[in-house]
Amino acid sequence: MAVMIDNHVVQTAASSFAIGTDNLRRIESAFIYDLDRGVDGMEPSSLKMLPSFLDLPTGREEGDALALDFGGTNVRARLYHIENGKAAVLRESARRLREFDRENALLYDYTSSKTRPEELFDFIAGIVKEAVSGDTQEEYPLGWTFSFPARQERVDQAELISWSKEIAVPGVEGQDVVRLLREALERNGLKNVRIKAVVNDTIATLVAAAYSDEKVTAAAIYGTGHNTGCREMYVRDKDRPPQLLNLESGGFSRLMRTVYDLEVDERSDRPGAQLLEKMVSGRYLGALFTNVAALSVRGEREEIPPDLEDRLGFTAEDMSRFMLAEDIAEKRSVLAVKFFPALGKGFSLDRAEIAAFRGLAEAITRRSARLVAATLSAIVRHNSETGEIKPQTIAVDGSVYANMPGVARLVRAAIDELLGEEGKKVELRRLTGGSGFGAAIAALM
Ligand code: GLC
Repeated sequence: MAVMIDNHVVQTAASSFAIGTDNLRRIESAFIYDLDRGVDGMEPSSLKMLPSFLDLPTGREEGDALALDFGGTNVRARLYHIENGKAAVLRESARRLREFDRENALLYDYTSSKTRPEELFDFIAGIVKEAVSGDTQEEYPLGWTFSFPARQERVDQAELISWSKEIAVPGVEGQDVVRLLREALERNGLKNVRIKAVVNDTIATLVAAAYSDEKVTAAAIYGTGHNTGCREMYVRDKDRPPQLLNLESGGFSRLMRTVYDLEVDERSDRPGAQLLEKMVSGRYLGALFTNVAALSVRGEREEIPPDLEDRLGFTAEDMSRFMLAEDIAEKRSVLAVKFFPALGKGFSLDRAEIAAFRGLAEAITRRSARLVAATLSAIVRHNSETGEIKPQTIAVDGSVYANMPGVARLVRAAIDELLGEEGKKVELRRLTGGSGFGAAIAALM
């Protein structure tokens, strides 16, 4: 028997990813429920709603500041000059945390379970050093975007709760990452760099967007990872001012999961954690597609490699390329890049199979967009105390939102589906680079 695709498996999976309006409303309500319970950490909630010890900027913050962005894929340091509401990047240095050569062999990896914390933090400090051109004299305030769940007691301290997005460096969880970075800066001769603020990327994006738009109430990251931050609406303790909250919404767990979600979760570094993130974000969309693709392969046992899923390894970028490909031939070649090396020469893909995979890619993408929309709409509802929705802007950054075909339109449509006419009052604003700029502003606040 030749190796082939069972189209039925692909189609069944695609239809299991559909979420109708009623179910979407249930998810929206469940998210509101968790938001309500999470206020001041009163009741157990799957949303961490972490305080940032920062409020919105005034829009008058000015000066020179370093912004360090560490989010899971790249490390980027930028020296900003901010004046009269305008920002100029004076210098920049960036590097990937993992790098492969042309033959796809690993050159280095600072994300693995074998990386020592000092190696990771020295690597980061090295990038900061490049951004200040090795200057060890002049004082630089630094704002650090650290895009992981962290518990803060001040704006310049942050204890990593747990890694997400498949970073596995041991010995960092439970530690104050600001201290670890400060020590690395000192080891690298950079006593002149002062860490003023550490912020989640949702908070940095919120600060960046609010710097020039006072209607901004929330900011979402919709890329490799997914999360939203918003301004705190309900403060029980009247003695303290409201602040910006990192919801860690990727950890939302009141969801209806499919068997494919369960498998992707089980194969991940942290089964049981970040359940929403695993259904919507770029790091996992490709894994969902891969999981179904592997399950759909039929053939004699010896024809199918036991590690088929690892070999296929479709990414969200592959899915985008596949959806954007104009004709069948081009679509076939996108799939072939992963299928043929894994399954050998006897394997072929016909028109119907390609159509089934197209339906699958679209269903996974559509579900992702609708789930994210349900959380945003829930935040809007939760934050409208009187029940009447105020005109407001939600900033959105991230590669899935920016690049995956149809995503931005699908999010918009699902928000309107949930909020009806009121949806018109919610503007979604696409932002790029907010997590760097926002960190620089935070350092100057
Ligand atoms: C993950 C992190 C979260 C971050 C998001 C987007 O969900 O846990 O802190 O904001 O990715 O980068």
